[in-house]
Amino acid sequence: MEKKLNQDKIPAHIAIIMDGNGRWAKKQGLLRVAGHEKGTKSVREAVEYCAEVGVKNLTLFAFSTENWNRPKFEVKTLMKLLVSSLKKELPTLQKNNIRLNSVGNLDTLPEKARLELEEVIDKTTTNTHMTLTLALSYGSREEIKCMVQSISKKVKDGEIQPEEITDQLINQHLYTFDMPDVDLLIRTSGEQRISNFLLWQIAYAELYFCDVLWPDFRKKHLFDAIYNYQKRERRFGKTSEQL
Ligand code: FPP
Repeated sequence: MEKKLNQDKIPAHIAIIMDGNGRWAKKQGLLRVAGHEKGTKSVREAVEYCAEVGVKNLTLFAFSTENWNRPKFEVKTLMKLLVSSLKKELPTLQKNNIRLNSVGNLDTLPEKARLELEEVIDKTTTNTHMTLTLALSYGSREEIKCMVQSISKKVKDGEIQPEEITDQLINQHLYTFDMPDVDLLIRTSGEQRISNFLLWQIAYAELYFCDVLWPDFRKKHLFDAIYNYQKRERRFGKTSEQL
């Protein structure tokens, strides 16, 4: 029997740690950056597929705060790839009614990348079919630290009382303030760790690890991940009988 996705159980928010570009390139006898280049095709397919099946939020870990420590040439190439992909993909985002969003410390991006990003975010701001969020110069601990700082300041200034600090208030002070919690977190390449990605937001996410290296990650792999997610029972701390 042909496997099909259950349209009533499509995850509202998928987040992906796109890992394995370097290893993919090494396997082909190429420079690491060739893996990143090839990885842009997988980004395109993942965006297309999520839009097709009705995922409302897709968040991609494109560059971490720790990635700044990589060799200069690799960082430069990744920033160039970001700029060229944004330029190239803008018409597709518009055609498919996809809004671009970003999380992270954008002030640290090279000016060209930041301006291009801001332009595409601005031009797609009224699109409603899906939100594609790029995590760029992103670190979850930094995000949490900024949230604690801004809430502490409000408490100090008497704007809020400590008892008024709720999950909702914390959400409002994170980069992801306008996004739902992550339902499904995928990591490619066989590594099984979170690497400082959306630590607060994945509290109840289903985790899915697969061995495929990111440049080889096709629509069928994303189908498998969502299919697997749909077979799980999400109990959120309750018993099966209570659901
Ligand atoms: C991890 O693989 C991947 C990255 C650090 C960058 C991801 C970037 C892309 C897929 C291309 C550009 C993206 C956009 C949104 C235009 P790795 O280099 O850590 O692989 P390794 O673990 O095999 O070394």
